[in-house]
Amino acid sequence: MPLAVSIKKMIVKFDFPLKAYNTFGMDVLCARFIQLDAEEEIHELDKANVFDSPHYILGGGSNTLFTNHYNGTVIHPAFKGIDIMDEDAESILLRVAAGEEWSALTDYCREHHYYGLENLVGIPGLVGSSPVQNIGAYGVEVKDCIEKVEGYYTGNMQEFSLTAPQCQFGYRNSLFKNGLKGKAFITSVWFRLSKVPHFNLTYKALANAMAGVEPTLENIMDTVIGIRNSKLPDITKIGCAGSFFKNPVIPRAQYSELLEQFPDLVSYPIDEEYVKLAAGQLIEKAGWKGKRIGDAGIYPFQALVVVNYGNAKPEEISYVYQRVIFDVQQLFDIRLNPEVNIIA
Ligand code: EPU
Repeated sequence: MPLAVSIKKMIVKFDFPLKAYNTFGMDVLCARFIQLDAEEEIHELDKANVFDSPHYILGGGSNTLFTNHYNGTVIHPAFKGIDIMDEDAESILLRVAAGEEWSALTDYCREHHYYGLENLVGIPGLVGSSPVQNIGAYGVEVKDCIEKVEGYYTGNMQEFSLTAPQCQFGYRNSLFKNGLKGKAFITSVWFRLSKVPHFNLTYKALANAMAGVEPTLENIMDTVIGIRNSKLPDITKIGCAGSFFKNPVIPRAQYSELLEQFPDLVSYPIDEEYVKLAAGQLIEKAGWKGKRIGDAGIYPFQALVVVNYGNAKPEEISYVYQRVIFDVQQLFDIRLNPEVNIIA
């Protein structure tokens, strides 16, 4: 690995502990850690050939499981900024730097009354990560508000500016997880938000909680936070990375067969041929909800969440998630796929 002697001003550390940089709390080291406090510093990384050797861009570390020490460079974008790029009577266009906390953006929306991201309040992580897995919650996906994503192709340092359709967003998926995986550095995300009240109450749990209440930006955000707190662990107390698995999409024919044995299986329509099931329910039926092996386990209030109760080692977390996959496959003949990035 080239030494970082040419990298000026930036925070560069060697054999750096990542425990405080991943919400799973995995106590692993990385060979080199570089924090970027200004967008332009990416050019210093290029000059030092950082992108030619193993590297991983780590945002808030809330969707990553390190299964071992990382023998490469972890690059942590920490540059911030929310700028208004365009505005009319009905909408506003914001350019938000990749290193901005997602919660800072939703706080900003709450303060200025910009509508669109309220159902996504409370999601941990950085803005630059949000398009990568197309974060979603309570009937809204971030793609619904993204106008474009800017950054650099790390292979040649060409800048890119990709519109939402070009980003090929899907359920917990995008071009950045496929064709551009490991090849792009996102510097900013542009959001088109509404200045006029406009709510999405299609998600049943949210609609139920809001029944009889006149929706406002504030009460939707507060309700979403309440629902999240009732189901998901407080990451400041219990290590986890939110939903560990994606909800599986299966053929309708297979779903009909499963219903004979499991008549209460929840499903969401995808199209004529496919339905999406609730992985949490499958895991619960496989007997894993609330199960704990040492300090690793499955959260008692939402079986989609793999948790570290304290000092679980990466191999213990890996054992639990692989056993869950195995048991769900045995019971339903459905293979669960992790939603979390698993870094070897
Ligand atoms: N369910 C169970 N047992 C469980 C968990 C869920 O039976 O342990 C059932 C629920 O009763 C419900 C259905 O599964 O009928 C769906 O549950 P929920 O509304 O909690 O949503 P989810 O599908 O389990 C997804 C996202 C979450 C997001 C919520 C709300 C994925 C992988 N997860 O969970 O995202 O907050 O919907 O929109 O799509 C995340 O990505 O980290 C995350 C937390």
